[in-house]
Amino acid sequence: MSNLTYEAVNWNAPTSELAKVFWDQQWKQIWFPEEIAVSKDISQWQTFEHQDTYKKVFGGLTLLDTLQTNVGMNEIAKFAPDLQEKAVLTVFAAFEAIHAKSYSYIFTTLCKNAEIDEIFEWVKKNEFLQYKAARISDIYQSIEEGDPESLWKAMYASVMLESFLFYSGFFYPLYLGGQGVLRNSAEVISLILRDESIHGVAVGFFAQNIFKRFSQEKQDELKIWGYELLLDLYQNELRYTEDVYAETGLSPEVKAYVRYNANKALMNVGFEAMFPEEEVNPIVMNGIRNEGSTYDFFSQKGATYAVAKVAPITDDTFNFSHLKGSEKSEEK
Ligand SMILES: [Fe+2]
Ligand SMILES: [Fe+2]
Repeated sequence: MSNLTYEAVNWNAPTSELAKVFWDQQWKQIWFPEEIAVSKDISQWQTFEHQDTYKKVFGGLTLLDTLQTNVGMNEIAKFAPDLQEKAVLTVFAAFEAIHAKSYSYIFTTLCKNAEIDEIFEWVKKNEFLQYKAARISDIYQSIEEGDPESLWKAMYASVMLESFLFYSGFFYPLYLGGQGVLRNSAEVISLILRDESIHGVAVGFFAQNIFKRFSQEKQDELKIWGYELLLDLYQNELRYTEDVYAETGLSPEVKAYVRYNANKALMNVGFEAMFPEEEVNPIVMNGIRNEGSTYDFFSQKGATYAVAKVAPITDDTFNFSHLKGSEKSEEK
């Protein structure tokens, strides 16, 4: 038996003030895919022109959320030094499992079994998808006990996955949903996106707390590592986008959206944006901004859920500068 002293999580000790904020916000947002009437999309689906792209997009997203459930959040939670942070990350992992399952719910509603099997086979064979899963997973699995550098790298990779790599996939349902096409499936995506926003900000914040304790030299070294990883993932993402969106002609717009979100991911970890500002398709941007006002499933759930109505997320939702105070990272 080991001689370790086992510590109990004490939520009364303010070890990590924001852990409580993230915990509360995540639970307020609880949702289940079955609450969305995806079956209302069936008639549009039957005549939808780009079923192949749509299915691949959802297959790719399923893989990323599977990885984030089974490896990402769990590995980071295992090695996070603070017990409250660990609890928050464990809750996030449960939401990743809901996300991964929700795509299957959409598949079951819209597709035949043989088509579903085909997509899950395609996921295993698509080299770009497999590349990004392997690249991120390797970093997750390289965390060493008591080593803040490898933990920071895993948190950085997690933010890249959640704030950047998901968006080549999110683009399509948001783009279509914003035009009234397959709108209920798009609502599932906007619920997932709402969770990913918290995850990216929270894990980015935990990462910044680790980062600011490194020496200047170490920070410079990790920044180079971080930008190189992002660029490598970006190159892969361009090829993935071209591959999946080929028949739709949407690749250039998807790529612009991917760059926009890569910048957001960098900002979540406290790094400077890398890509120049450019216009992103307004339908997709609008879909996100209006999310809180256009979707109303909480009100459809009946009285018990009425109190759970969640305020819409805006760019200011996660502005914690008033809480961070002197803790604010000074590495820029
Ligand atoms: Fe997720
Ligand atoms: Fe997530």
